Amino acid sequence: MSPAKEAAAEQAPILTLDGISKSFDLGKGKTLEAITGVSFGVSRNEICVILGPSGCGKSTVLRMMAGLETPTSGDLMLEGRHIDGPGRDRGMVFQAYTSFDWMSVRRNVEFGMKINGVPASERRDRADHYIRLVGLTKFADAYPTQLSGGMRQRVAIARTLANGPELLLMDEPFGALDAETRWHMQELLVEIAESTRTTIVMVTHDIEEAIFLADKIVFMSRHPGRVKCEIVPEFKNGKRITEKEKVIDLDGYSEIERQIMRLMREEGAKD
Ligand SMILES: Nc1ncnc2c1ncn2[C@@H]1O[C@H](COP(=O)(O)OP(=O)(O)OP(=O)(O)O)[C@@H](O)[C@H]1O
Ligand SMILES: [Mg+2]
Repeated sequence: MSPAKEAAAEQAPILTLDGISKSFDLGKGKTLEAITGVSFGVSRNEICVILGPSGCGKSTVLRMMAGLETPTSGDLMLEGRHIDGPGRDRGMVFQAYTSFDWMSVRRNVEFGMKINGVPASERRDRADHYIRLVGLTKFADAYPTQLSGGMRQRVAIARTLANGPELLLMDEPFGALDAETRWHMQELLVEIAESTRTTIVMVTHDIEEAIFLADKIVFMSRHPGRVKCEIVPEFKNGKRITEKEKVIDLDGYSEIERQIMRLMREEGAKD
C-alpha cells in the first residue's frame, strides 16, 4: 500500500455508530428513551473518550459496542461487520474490580485466554508479557486481595489485552481510584495505547482525564443522550504525551478545558 493509502486507511473509522437509539422498557407501559440518533466513528489506534453528564447514556453506548445491549434502532459496525453480540474482537474493563480473588494475578490473566482456547504453553508467555506491560511482574503470584485498587485495575487491563482485542472498551475504569493512582493509570494507558496500538473507547465524566487521554472526545448531552459535539484536542498536535503535567502546560489546554466546562454547565442547567 502506498503511504497515502496507508494514511487514509488509518483515518477511516473501524468502528461506526449510525443513528443509534435505545429505549428501555420500564414496565407498566412506560419506556425511557436513553439515547437517540447517536452517530460517530472511531479510527484505528485512536483513543476516543466519551464524555458527558451523569445519565446521558455513555455506558449504554459502550455496552452496545461490547454487544451487551442491542439498539432499538440504528446500526453498529466494527471492521465492516455488524455488532450483534459480544465477541473476542472486543474487550471490556469495568469500573468495579472484576478479578477472581481465588486466582493469582497470572491465573487471572491466563483465564480469559483459556476460555478462548489459547494453548497452555502460549498462555503463560502472553500472560507474563501483559503483566510486565502493566508493571505487575513482582506480583504475578500474588492474589487480588493482596493488591491495591490501582493494581487490581492493572490486572483487569492485562487480562483484557491478553485476549488481543481490536477494540478495548473501558467504562470509567479509574473512577474508584484515588487522585494520584488515577493519574499514574492514565499515563500507563497512554503508554499501552502507544505500544500495543489498540483502539480504545473510554467513558469518563472527568474533564481533565478526557483531555489528557483523548485523540478525540465525543461529548454527549443528556436526556435523551445524543452527540452534542466532537472535540479534537488539536493543541496536542496529534502527539501522545505520557507525562500529564506536560499536557496541562501546553498552550491551548486551558481553552479546551473551559470549552468543555461550559458544555457541562449547559447540560447541567437543563434539569
Ligand atoms: N437496563 C436499564 N433499564 C432501564 N433504564 C436504563 C437501563 N440502563 C440504563 N438506563 C437508563 O438510561 C439512561 C442512561 O444510562 P447510562 O448508564 O448509559 O448513563 P451514563 O451516562 O453512563 O451515566 P453515569 O455517568 O452516571 O454512569 C439513564 O436514564 C438510565 O436510568
Ligand atoms: Mg455510566
